[in-house]
Amino acid sequence: MARKQARRSPFGFAVPDVPASLDDVFNLHDFESLARERLAPTAYGYYASGAGDERSLADNLASWSRWRLVPRVLAGARHPELTTSLLGASAALPIGVAPAALQGMAHPDGELALARAAARAGAPFVLSTASTRSIEEVGAAAGDTGAPRWFQLYVEHDLAFARELVERAEAAGFGAVVLTVDLPVAGYRERDLRTRFSIPASVQAHLPPDAAGGDDTFVAYLDRKPPLRWQDVATIAGWTSLPLVLKGILSPLDVDRAIQHGARAIWVSNHGGRQLDGTVTAPEVLGEIVDATEGRAEVYADGGVRRGSDVAVALVLGARAVFTARPFLYALAAAGEAGADRAFEIIGDELRRALAILGVVDVAGVRRDHIRPAP
Ligand code: FNR
Repeated sequence: MARKQARRSPFGFAVPDVPASLDDVFNLHDFESLARERLAPTAYGYYASGAGDERSLADNLASWSRWRLVPRVLAGARHPELTTSLLGASAALPIGVAPAALQGMAHPDGELALARAAARAGAPFVLSTASTRSIEEVGAAAGDTGAPRWFQLYVEHDLAFARELVERAEAAGFGAVVLTVDLPVAGYRERDLRTRFSIPASVQAHLPPDAAGGDDTFVAYLDRKPPLRWQDVATIAGWTSLPLVLKGILSPLDVDRAIQHGARAIWVSNHGGRQLDGTVTAPEVLGEIVDATEGRAEVYADGGVRRGSDVAVALVLGARAVFTARPFLYALAAAGEAGADRAFEIIGDELRRALAILGVVDVAGVRRDHIRPAP
């Protein structure tokens, strides 16, 4: 099918003029084919791909069903309450937008659109360091709905540059810093190598001066990041009164150290299968990681969350919230902000139904005996 691209976004990528009809979108998977038709192949490849043989990419999707849900009958509520609190702030949904780079490739409004849709849904939104819109623009667009709005930090250049970003985020009303720690080097993302994907020259929001527009592939750019150590985590935590979240933890053995170095929350993630192919997935380690916190830190999870029942499994395993990236990128590419609104509506409705059928009245009502390992 011919791709439905009509104009160029400010970032040099063709984007669709006419939003897709959402009449036949019934779940988060449905956005992907609409997005693929509309996006430039390089942009679609960047969003969709994983590292190596993309085994972890597939495992993420499949591994939520390693756990089987065990409903309790004649209990619960018809409309279970989805509200929760994250780092002391209220969220209407325990499902948020994970930080994802370069949202301006999906739609000219990019991060503004997803931040606004998340704010409307009362859901958390996490802005990537590698965004196409500035911290200040996104802060203003999201407004003051009280929904959690956090800033994801990569130390791209040096600590002084990173500190400025943290201070800007705090000034712009962001409520937490999410430090991503699973990218000492880039994952081997072959699709991006084959398409020679690089950061479009016009992306300047808050990347260091050498980020965009050169001859480097994206992988080569990511490889230039300075190395981070545990001591840097404590240093970064000390820059700000905002709570620090460590994103990209997969081993229960890292939990103590994370908390000792200032993390208030642990985000279990294999980076959507984009870093090391063949890692464990969130549902495989989430329970152990929650246990290792001994209640000292909140725990979040991501990777392949596409259904309300996946969210239910994560909540049962002890996650306080889950995040997802690709479905929101695809929804944005398909139909802009209306697409993102629809994505929130769908996943919220699915979760509400899942909890009702499990027999609970709210997100806090789930317990470990609501799941069993699949046979
Ligand atoms: C990401 N991810 C990511 N993570 C991060 O901390 N900073 C970033 O800038 C990005 N950028 C990014 C771009 C794209 C295109 C994708 C798909 C992902 C990882 C992201 O936050 C999250 O961990 C996973 O993508 C979750 O998996 P799903 O929901 O995409 O399956």
